[in-house]
Amino acid sequence: MSYTLHNAVSLCHLLLESYVADASIVVDMTCGNGHDTLFLRERLAPRATLYAFDIQEPAVQATKKRLQQAGKWDEQVILRQGSHEKLIHMIDAEIDICVFNLGYLPAGNHNIHTEFAITLKALKICLHKLSKKGMIIMAAYPGTRAGAEEAMGVAEFLQQLPQEQYHVSLWQPLNQIHEPPILYIVQRRS
Ligand SMILES: C[S@@+](CC[C@H](N)C(=O)[O-])C[C@H]1O[C@@H](n2cnc3c(N)ncnc32)[C@H](O)[C@@H]1O
Repeated sequence: MSYTLHNAVSLCHLLLESYVADASIVVDMTCGNGHDTLFLRERLAPRATLYAFDIQEPAVQATKKRLQQAGKWDEQVILRQGSHEKLIHMIDAEIDICVFNLGYLPAGNHNIHTEFAITLKALKICLHKLSKKGMIIMAAYPGTRAGAEEAMGVAEFLQQLPQEQYHVSLWQPLNQIHEPPILYIVQRRS
């Protein structure tokens, strides 16, 4: 399989490729149209669980349909509608991989989008629940005002995380016009 490194989602998938098979608990915090959920489910270990959350019903339906059509809709997937900072509490175990693909549903209602205050809340809970060597990977979209505010706020928060506890980095194209998505990557060290 080959990846073209043209955007944050493609780099996100490239990273996930190396980690998902070893994970027990994987969470798609914003399942949207289900592209990331299906990518994760296709690589999930036999006894692992994949949680997928979205705040809007059409996204949850779209995700379910995508998985069904791919023959990947089964008991390993737990799909719920609601806001992720609340739904995340349903997971008792430590989380190995947490994926956020921020922003709005591309072909949906653009007024429903992730918001910095909520994203920050969810991010803090995920950090708390992360297993050792567990990873949070977040694609942020600074192309809109709300998206820029969110991307900047996340960066400010993440850069203050203690180096002895977390590896924190970001990836962004340098030669693209407009405001290309940014990928934030966090791995718990200890
Ligand atoms: C860019 S889309 C996600 C794309 C998706 N990962 C995919 O592969 O198709 C962002 C999604 O975040 C969802 N969202 C916004 N705020 C949310 C929240 N507080 N909790 C959960 N989902 C939220 C939106 O409904 C939207 O579907």
